Amino acid sequence: MCGIVGYIGNEQAKDILIKGLQKLEYRGYDSAGIALVGNSGIELYKEKGRIASLEDAINKDASGTTGIGHTRWATHGAPSKENAHPHQSVSERYTLVHNGVIENYQQLKKEYLHDVTLASETDTEVIVQLVEAFSQKGESTEEAFRHTLSLLHGSYAIALIDNADNDTIYVGKNKSPLLVGLGDGVNVVASDAMAMLHITKEFIEIMDEEIVVVTKDNVQVKTLDGKSVTRHSFTTDIDESDTEKGTYNHFMLKEVDEQPFVMRNIVQKYQNDDGDIKLDGDIRSAINDADRLYIIAAGTSYHAGLVGKEMMEKVAKKPVEVHIASEFLYNQPLLSEKPLFIFISQSGETADCRGVLVNVKKNGYKSLTITNVPGSTLSREADFTLHTYAGPEIAVASTKAYTAQMAVFSILAMDSARAQGIDTDFDAIQELSLIANAMETLCDQKDVMEQIARDYLFETRSCFFIGRGMDYHVVMEGSLKLKEISYIQAEGFAGGELKHGTIALIEDGTPVVAVTTQKHVNLNIRGNVQEVVARGANACIISTETTKQDGDQIVLPDIHELMTPLLSVIPLQLIAYYAALHRGCDVDKPRNLAKSVTVE
Ligand code: F6R
Repeated sequence: MCGIVGYIGNEQAKDILIKGLQKLEYRGYDSAGIALVGNSGIELYKEKGRIASLEDAINKDASGTTGIGHTRWATHGAPSKENAHPHQSVSERYTLVHNGVIENYQQLKKEYLHDVTLASETDTEVIVQLVEAFSQKGESTEEAFRHTLSLLHGSYAIALIDNADNDTIYVGKNKSPLLVGLGDGVNVVASDAMAMLHITKEFIEIMDEEIVVVTKDNVQVKTLDGKSVTRHSFTTDIDESDTEKGTYNHFMLKEVDEQPFVMRNIVQKYQNDDGDIKLDGDIRSAINDADRLYIIAAGTSYHAGLVGKEMMEKVAKKPVEVHIASEFLYNQPLLSEKPLFIFISQSGETADCRGVLVNVKKNGYKSLTITNVPGSTLSREADFTLHTYAGPEIAVASTKAYTAQMAVFSILAMDSARAQGIDTDFDAIQELSLIANAMETLCDQKDVMEQIARDYLFETRSCFFIGRGMDYHVVMEGSLKLKEISYIQAEGFAGGELKHGTIALIEDGTPVVAVTTQKHVNLNIRGNVQEVVARGANACIISTETTKQDGDQIVLPDIHELMTPLLSVIPLQLIAYYAALHRGCDVDKPRNLAKSVTVE
């Protein structure tokens, strides 16, 4: 969701900010803006739509060596130039960008700003007007900023500049991500490290309810009541080239192709020199001491959780529940006596998950985050973190992060089984190596997937996906991939459930993609395929060497049944990609979506 960048140094800030915003495009946005402050005062540019439109609108001579920028994903008020950030105070002294949601903005407006006419519909504008109101009462900018933040309820990451002092950026944070990057005679601000890798790899984290006063030579971290805080920096290991498309037209395709490498990387990271699993002993104990695991996640990560449950229950004999984070948050089920909460989140920032984690901590339960971003909020706040080592995922549609999450679960399941002395033939490490090779073979068959997309999906309004057991979990993911990037109405169903209502939607030519990778339900799902074909459906079947029948469109190599989603999802990802591509959709940045969902 919204992205923030800031720059203060000796160079012109304009191009640096635009490059930073481009690196944040993947988070999802519908308008963008920058503000520059230099010797000739403040210059403000904002536009609805893509960053390219913003670039066109910026005066070629725009100058300023201090600046802030923002990509907005609309929450309060429609996507428009007026609602785009940065927002300014009435006198135009203060200019600010914000990511998050201020829950009490209307109350604050009533209490402190009754004589101010707001220029936008946003909650953000109230923040900048408050800073000005307090500064007019004699507070310094820093005091007015801290005073304002202390009144806010909700989530925020904020960067503020002052037209009367072009040497300082004020930043503050609560629940929304924000980092300060450190350079030599230059400092930067960014929602994530990727946005500023062209300037620095050294960053400091800002904790909730802290501010940072940033000048080009200094950064000062403080609490909201003004006490100085010492904070050490860290160096990110993300390479700038990891965030580039290289020879690919889309990040999504690049990331699908990276999955074999990710599998091998996970094997390497989770294996010691003796070939045994390398896992923090405290994590092992937390899993084995728990009487029930509660997996909390959203979207694709939730789908990975469903597969993780099967692995943990079938291999490690651990009872597991999987919950949608936003549901669990307001409708908590009865808990067992000794639960362990496992949060799965690619970004590590999903607000719904964080809401649950806050309650989990309040109640004194242990928590583990499985994430692709180790320094993220969920990672920092949980007791333990496991890294998925997928490398930066830039396309909004999650692909390699999903398979990486399931791969890490397979390792956890095997480790837990061994630690408990359970006799199992499940060897996650060996399976992941086989899967890496099989993924490569599938990724080489792009022409087959493209043809399937052409034959089944180019014209259709809707598409159904069916499967049973492990295949049911993966078809839910396949349908999510298709709908989010191609806008085709797609649903994933348990094969046996279709005839209890949904089959009424099958018409002549309706595409139905069936995945059948498990021998014990192969004939059942094929029966379900017959039911829809008899009503006119156009069926596309993905099977394995063991379950195949003549006429199946894709046959996968045999792997352990519990691991099949890691493989069967590859054709589903590619089919969704080609369907979206040929329907003219913006594959990497689908409409209305955000990569990092930082509001509830
Ligand atoms: C779909 C997708 C989303 C995310 C969901 C949770 O391709 O990416 O459904 O899986 O928004 O995000 P994370 O995993 O960052 O918590």
